[in-house]
Formats: sequence, C-alpha cells, structure tokens
Amino acid sequence: MIDYGLKDRVIFITGGGSGIGRAIALLAARGGARVAVADAVAERATQVAAELRDLGMQAMGELLDVRDSQTCDNVVARVEEQLGPLDGMVACAGISPPSAATDMGDETWSRCLDVNLTGMFRSIRPVGQRMVQRKRGAIVTISSVDGLGGHAGRAHYSASKHGVIGLTRALAIEWGRHGVRVNSVAPGVVDTPLLRANIPPDHLQYAMLDRIPMGRLARAEEQAGPTLFLLSDAASYLTGSVMTVDGGTSAGYFTRWNGADLGSRALLEAGAYGEPQ
Ligand SMILES: NC(=O)c1ccc[n+]([C@@H]2O[C@H](COP(=O)([O-])OP(=O)(O)OC[C@H]3O[C@@H](n4cnc5c(N)ncnc54)[C@H](O)[C@@H]3O)[C@@H](O)[C@H]2O)c1
Repeated sequence: MIDYGLKDRVIFITGGGSGIGRAIALLAARGGARVAVADAVAERATQVAAELRDLGMQAMGELLDVRDSQTCDNVVARVEEQLGPLDGMVACAGISPPSAATDMGDETWSRCLDVNLTGMFRSIRPVGQRMVQRKRGAIVTISSVDGLGGHAGRAHYSASKHGVIGLTRALAIEWGRHGVRVNSVAPGVVDTPLLRANIPPDHLQYAMLDRIPMGRLARAEEQAGPTLFLLSDAASYLTGSVMTVDGGTSAGYFTRWNGADLGSRALLEAGAYGEPQ
C-alpha cells in the first residue's frame, strides 16, 4: 500500500458516507489517519465510521447537512474536540439530479447550487478559520470535469462545479500566505451510487464510456489516492490547482475509445480503429 504520510493526521470529510468520500475515508484510515466522516444521511456516516474503527482507527461519524451553517460550525468544533486540530479536509458532499435546462424550476437549480457550492463554502469556512489561525492545513474540494466544461441536462450541476473551482482558486490565493493549501480533484465518471442513480445504463455505455480514452469508469478508490496526495506533504507547493482524475476525458477533442473520432461510430464498429479495449 502507498504511504501518503498521513499517519495520525486528523482529516474531516463531508459527504463521506458514500461513494468517493467513503473511499477517501477508508484509504486515509488505512494509512493511519484519524478521520471524521460527515454526511446528510446519519446512518451512512455512522456506518463508515464503524468501518474505520474496524480497521483499528479512531474515527467519528457525524450528521451534517452542508446547507446549514450553524451545524457546519458545530460539527467542526466537535471534531476538533474529539480528534484534535484538523490537518486536512475533503469537501466532497454533492448531488447531481439530472434536469433539462428548459424544464428546470428554481427549486431544482437552487438546491443544487446550495449543496454543491454554497454548502461547500459553509463547510470549509469553519475549517479555514481554524487552519488560517494555526497557519497550517490542506483542503481538497471535489469538483468535476463538469467544472471545466458543460454537460447537457446538468446546467445547475455544471454551474455549481465551475463555482467550486473558482472557490478553490480564490481560497488558495487568500489563504496561501497563511500556510493553508486549497486544491481540487476533478473526477471524470466514477462508478458510485450517485452515478448509478442518475445515468441510464445505455447512456452510460454510449454517451459516457465512448468519451473516456481509458475505456472504463473510474473506481471510487481511484479518486482517493490523488486526494490524499494533495493533502500530503508531498504536495507542499501545490495550491490552487485542479487535478483532473478522468481517464483522459478532458485531455482533448477526440477523447473517445482509441482516440477515434466517432462522428464515425460505424468505422469503429467495422474495426477501422482496432478493437475497443
Ligand atoms: N460519481 C461521479 O461520477 C462523480 C464525478 C465527478 C464528481 N463527482 C462528485 O463527487 C462527490 C461525491 O459523489 P459520489 O459519486 O461519491 O456520490 P454519492 O451519492 O455516492 O455520495 C455523496 C454523499 O454526499 C452526501 N450528501 C448529499 N447532500 C449532502 C448535504 N447536503 N450535506 C452533506 N452531505 C450530503 C450523500 O448523502 C452521499 O453520502 C460529489 O461532489 C460529486 O459531485 C462525482
């Protein structure tokens, strides 16, 4: 197992009860970190914290809806009381309900922005206040490749994730002199409950897998390593950066199987570009 040098570090993860957040929590705990998992679904947070304790690590699970500032402040205070001063935070809580822009009501738009962007700020603020005061700490936001480009049926989500990248860069600039680093991991398509709930299987196959040069979805664990790297001392001079972890999806225009331009799917199927891997 790769050692990210996070033994005994205290790490707080929002949205840690499922998918990518849970994978980050598990990898951090396996590396010896003390982890606080916060999630809007209490049982998820409790369940993941129990998994971490089964690994022999100190861990806590907290109910936290990032839409509530007061709860964010209270949970961060409780985490520091129980586990010690925070060394790292991963802001991972997010939702991605599909909706065509023409049909999208205010409520759908606002909820997505409220959780993914404003909620992220609410949860980072009490952590940043403490880290800035202590002059040390690292924060990783989980954005998305949808924060770098648009996505049909996801106007609200794309807007929120572009906002997350803007937030990451602004905080990096504001807190850099105070010893606090802020970076973002921008996942591509990751096989998690969120993805399975929101993407029909045929869309997954044709619209998504086609566009991933590596020809497969990411496993949640594959987002965890890059996240822990950004939290670690190996990334001591990285701040304000956005690391795409997307199997090559955002690398260029022709990001499809074997680099093929599938304006001509028929050519691919006829074997013109070789067999898809
Ligand atoms: N799965 C993907 O393909 C993918 C791609 C790019 C980015 N992301 C981002 O990664 C993050 C995690 O996604 P995932 O795929 O692991 O999803 P997931 O649904 O498996 O996990 C998200 C967790 O966030 C929690 N959550 C939702 N709203 C919350 C709130 N208001 N307060 C606190 N917690 C809340 C959920 O309860 C859930 O446990 C999200 O920010 C998502 O936008 C995912």
